[in-house]
Amino acid sequence: MDGMKKPGATSVGPVVGMWDVRREYSGGRVRALDGVSVGFERGSFTAVMGPSGSGKSTFLHCAAGLDRPTAGSVRLDGVELGGLRERALTRFRRERIGFVFQAFNLLPALSVVDNVTLPLRLAGVRLERGAVDEVLERVGLGGKRRSRPGELSGGQQQRVAVARALVTRPAVIFGDEPTGALDTRSAAEVLTLLRQSVDGAGQTVVMVTHDPVAAAYADRVVFLADGRLVGELKRPTVELVAERMQMAVGHGAGNGVRS
Ligand SMILES: Nc1ncnc2c1ncn2[C@@H]1O[C@H](COP(=O)(O)OP(=O)(O)OP(=O)(O)O)[C@@H](O)[C@H]1O
Ligand SMILES: [Mg+2]
Repeated sequence: MDGMKKPGATSVGPVVGMWDVRREYSGGRVRALDGVSVGFERGSFTAVMGPSGSGKSTFLHCAAGLDRPTAGSVRLDGVELGGLRERALTRFRRERIGFVFQAFNLLPALSVVDNVTLPLRLAGVRLERGAVDEVLERVGLGGKRRSRPGELSGGQQQRVAVARALVTRPAVIFGDEPTGALDTRSAAEVLTLLRQSVDGAGQTVVMVTHDPVAAAYADRVVFLADGRLVGELKRPTVELVAERMQMAVGHGAGNGVRS
């Protein structure tokens, strides 16, 4: 480590900080997040795990400024998200945050290149020349620039979505089960790309997953149950994560409701 910071990386402390974040639905009858405080360091890769309904997606959406908490505060890349109005928040998300979801969310009529660049063009964000080619090379789709999503495999489509998330060089990339719809090999490719964006470019990744194999790509796993952080694991391995998940089931974490 030479101690050099990337331009713009001036804030001290974690790149994402959440303090006592709560998110209620249905007038307070559902507490999806029940007081979560956590930080994610710049250049770290974190997996978020927990039973279905434990609040993982709500957590990710609040952390990324896609949803506003009922209470508490979220700071991302030096900016207090609660202090931004809707338009400023949208702009901030486009420029500083990348997203990869389980569904690839590509536009079927557009080419690979246009899928990667359209959101930015719509937002009036100028891309550096060569940035798109570079990112497509990086995800291994340099030869598919003119293809449409329907002509690509699921794994290739998700790599287009990863390219779209990386093209602005965001400070933080959030994933909600980004490998959930992929076969083992494609999942490994996407996870390797996320890992490289942390190790090579110093970006930060926060990824929800159900898969211990995916979680083992991270530096740290945080566990949610019933809207609260209930534990964490540093330097996770597949075995350690699987063991921890078994324990959680054994203790009846999650709502366990059956119909
Ligand atoms: N828009 C909403 N209105 C009411 N309740 C909601 C809403 N969104 C989420 N919830 C509730 O909040 C809780 C957490 O939901 P969330 O989607 O964050 O869980 P999750 O951990 O991502 O689950 P999964 O693993 O199934 O994706 C659940 O009880 C869910 O029913
Ligand atoms: Mg979810």
